[in-house]
Amino acid sequence: MLYVAVRAARRAGDMIARSYDERDTLKITRKSDRDYVTEVDQRAESMIIREIRRHYPDHGVIAEEMDAPTNPDAPMQWYIDPLDGTTNFIHGYPHFAVSIAAFKHGKPMLAVVHDPIRDETFEARNGGGAFLNRRRLRVSDEKRLEHALFASGIPAYRREQMEVFQQRMDRCMRAMDGYRRGGSAALDLAYVAAGRLDAYWEAGLQPWDIAAGYLLVQEAGGLATDIDGAGLDLDRGDVLAANPHLHPKLTRLLKA
Ligand code: IPD
Ligand code: CA
Ligand code: CA
Repeated sequence: MLYVAVRAARRAGDMIARSYDERDTLKITRKSDRDYVTEVDQRAESMIIREIRRHYPDHGVIAEEMDAPTNPDAPMQWYIDPLDGTTNFIHGYPHFAVSIAAFKHGKPMLAVVHDPIRDETFEARNGGGAFLNRRRLRVSDEKRLEHALFASGIPAYRREQMEVFQQRMDRCMRAMDGYRRGGSAALDLAYVAAGRLDAYWEAGLQPWDIAAGYLLVQEAGGLATDIDGAGLDLDRGDVLAANPHLHPKLTRLLKA
């Protein structure tokens, strides 16, 4: 199954990378305030779903651009974000990814996050470790908040969350060494798994943004929970991912 997911992600990624050079001619539709979709998102999603259905017609599929999930009662559910970082893609900022995960009875089984620009494929299997282009991944060993590099996402189209976000950011920026806003939740999580970031948190995400990255972080020895430190609920969409030294400190800092 992981092989099917990796192949689907890489094929969609190749198409995304080719379209990136012609993005000025693409049709862009506004889904809501500051939330956009391009033909490329839709094309990538169709390619991935076609591939998954060909192998696993009974599985459920929950994907960002589809109207309604298919086979919602199936034990195996796929979560697909065909292009995570659409705003970056549209602006020509080369940082976006394809994100695919499969969950069985609510438990993560496999994950792929593929960055087509850097040709980096992050993958994980439950109990089998996390890998980047087949090299084993490990979260960072940083123990001190003041040395930590963290990422988060700005809830630009969830304005009601802005005040809480700003308070949390203020505390984090004072407590930690540096901040990055990459613009792709899937890559933020993959970077925590790879030890490139020490921590990442964001509120109000969608299940397809975090499903794959969640398993990558866990399999790389990190902790991925909701922002309160409780088990991750994909539908709630809050996430705090960090190495095990920093995770409890951040749970306290974000709550304060
Ligand atoms: C977005 C990205 C971004 C996050 C947004 C997501 P999209 O996904 O993951 O980093 O801050 O909340 O919606 O729309 O580019 O797939
Ligand atoms: Ca997304
Ligand atoms: Ca997307």
